[in-house]
Amino acid sequence: MENNTTNNFPNRAFNQWDAQLYDRKHSFVSNLAIDLLELLSPQSGEKILDLGCGTGHLTYKITTKGAKVVGIDNAPTMIEQANRCYPDIKFLVGDGVNIDLKETFDAVFSNAALHWIKEPREVIRNIWRVLKPGGRFVTEFGGKGNIQTIISGIYEALDASGYSDNKQLNPWYFPSVGEYATLLESEGFLLTFATLLERPTKLEYGESGLRNWIKMFATCFLEGIPGKKQDTIINDIENRLRPHLYQKGKWTADYKRIRIMAFKEGKLNQ
Ligand code: BEZ
Repeated sequence: MENNTTNNFPNRAFNQWDAQLYDRKHSFVSNLAIDLLELLSPQSGEKILDLGCGTGHLTYKITTKGAKVVGIDNAPTMIEQANRCYPDIKFLVGDGVNIDLKETFDAVFSNAALHWIKEPREVIRNIWRVLKPGGRFVTEFGGKGNIQTIISGIYEALDASGYSDNKQLNPWYFPSVGEYATLLESEGFLLTFATLLERPTKLEYGESGLRNWIKMFATCFLEGIPGKKQDTIINDIENRLRPHLYQKGKWTADYKRIRIMAFKEGKLNQ
């Protein structure tokens, strides 16, 4: 993987995903979303947009309820993999900020993707635009306090190594429920469900779990740092976080997720 390879779906800056590694060892991202699908409650005949569909496993699950689903993701590697696994589903390379679709949908669904986009208002406007009147938006992504312990470890290690400026490369948007609800309402949505959930998540790979998580999702913080120095920083992050996140041979990520359901209403000024 390249240095700037990092996570998830409509991540506009970093989209060189290793889709196979993601599927093999970071599949918890889609597995955790199963009851989010209950909230979506897809109905036969509905048209649904899966925004940030990754390798398409949830997109496929939604189709099994009889809905017609389009999956979009800004990482071409993810879309290639999705197309290989599910050739009957329409997958497109696309971006939450520039959703280039003329069709409209009964629902927009998005799991573990929107924390990669730091222009949430643009995303919400695009979702509003592609929804039919009364259509629903169901999403879950990193909320306020998500991976706070991991971020603190990364920041402390960057400070200690003389690369404090790299803290500005933080790619994530983790809003509070209040902040996101206000944004949705100001863009013409009626919010019917909003919560923040603790979601401690065991990482794969045992002892190497955190190191691999950083290499998959957080390499942007190491941009411009020579390779050997990067290894030293990752070791330092591990040492700082071990007392908090490592137990019995397993690392646990301190995930917190915001979960939302909102409906498209009319806009006041239209
Ligand atoms: C998340 O799913 O909450 C997440 C994953 C990787 C990086 C940041 C957040």
